[in-house]
Amino acid sequence: MSSSTPRDFPATFLFGAATAAYQIEGAAHEDGRTDSIWDAFARVPGAVVGQDNGDVACDHYHRYPQDVQLMADLGLQTYRFSTSWSRVCPDGGAPNQAGLDFYSRLVDELLDHNILPWLTLYHWDLPQALEEKGGWPERDTAYRFLDYATAVHDRLGDRVSSWTTLNEPWCASFLSYIGGEHAPGRQDPTAGHGLVIQELRRDPELSLGITLNLTVADPVDPTDAGDRDAARRIDGQFNRFFLDPIFRGEYPADVLEDVAGLGFERVVQPGDLEIISSPIDMLGVNYYHGELVGAHPPVGQTMSTAAPSVRPKRSPFPAAEGVHWHLRDLPLTAMQWEVQPEGLTRLLVRIQEEYAGPAGVQLAVTENGAAYNDVVAPDGAVHDAERVEFLEAHLAAILDAIDQGVPVRGYFYWSLMDNFEWAWGYDKRFGIVRVDYDTQERTPKDSAIAYTRIIAGRAL
Ligand code: NOJ
Repeated sequence: MSSSTPRDFPATFLFGAATAAYQIEGAAHEDGRTDSIWDAFARVPGAVVGQDNGDVACDHYHRYPQDVQLMADLGLQTYRFSTSWSRVCPDGGAPNQAGLDFYSRLVDELLDHNILPWLTLYHWDLPQALEEKGGWPERDTAYRFLDYATAVHDRLGDRVSSWTTLNEPWCASFLSYIGGEHAPGRQDPTAGHGLVIQELRRDPELSLGITLNLTVADPVDPTDAGDRDAARRIDGQFNRFFLDPIFRGEYPADVLEDVAGLGFERVVQPGDLEIISSPIDMLGVNYYHGELVGAHPPVGQTMSTAAPSVRPKRSPFPAAEGVHWHLRDLPLTAMQWEVQPEGLTRLLVRIQEEYAGPAGVQLAVTENGAAYNDVVAPDGAVHDAERVEFLEAHLAAILDAIDQGVPVRGYFYWSLMDNFEWAWGYDKRFGIVRVDYDTQERTPKDSAIAYTRIIAGRAL
């Protein structure tokens, strides 16, 4: 940044990066691990671009010592990762010591390097055996999730203090079951979230939370009632449909009306909302971009951000028939996602005011990042100037939110390294570290170098 007065981050602010088990680990059939729904989904012809899968991925399962060294070299203070359910409890059954051993070694390695482990229990990889028994719609799955979480806590609870139940339940429900773009999670797994929070709460040392993908939905024309309703629907389905039950113990009435007829009322049973609203300590916010929506199609724009292999499928927005997405005059990433840092400031301020603040819950940005078509220069470096700009702009947006009174705990860039981007396979690169999938060589990109400099100075 060229600004003459540096902007400092608070002394307690944590700088980190994030990954997820299926996207980086590989070793898909080693040491007792069995299939998850993503192993099975990736075998479906055409489900994933290039018919890629996570069998090897970044081979992190074998290379974790070097990867942790890399994190330390970058200056990361914290690392957000997920444990693989089917590695820890193959087929969703009894705990597998070899699987737990891996995470125990990883946690020790992180702690040895002064990196705070930030653990997520469910990053979309339901054991396939549980899916075959009915998956998330089967209430027993929430109890199997509790068993798995308890096994992970029994082994790591003495060393890991930061626990996240679910990552982006919107994707594990709407995008998967209705949109068909992701492996079937089929139903909102937030009941499982509440059960695990209640159980882990018995350990008073822990910080417990959930990570949601939240957005800012703006109407194309704020004076147009139809456009305003489009924004209300998207805000309802993305944000309030998850925030309200967790923070307020109720589903938003307008969204229930929007989804009437989809059978949702048959799914929620008496007592569920009390469990789902078990108090949390930390809300993880994943923010990539906002949405500009309206009641009329945009003129001269074609918008689809779904992976080409899965088009056309039903919209993952059942409550938003007739809503149209519009593009603004903003730069786009390789995912065709708009770069909209100011949306992050607005989102954090709003979540703090309406939910986190009143509940005494802390906020952290648990994901934010961008895919670009990186090029390796003749000198072997990756000069990803756009990603450097993206990173700096979003860190500045967080400082803006902090200036407005939001006590943000930290930031996790997505992702530490290039990895398996779900339906897009290895086609999209989000990392600040490049992975050469032929050699597994890691190369810090210019964005990693910039991040290291920011972390060292604790200022922008
Ligand atoms: C959200 C997900 O949590 C992560 O797994 C994914 O790779 C990134 N967004 C980028 O799409």
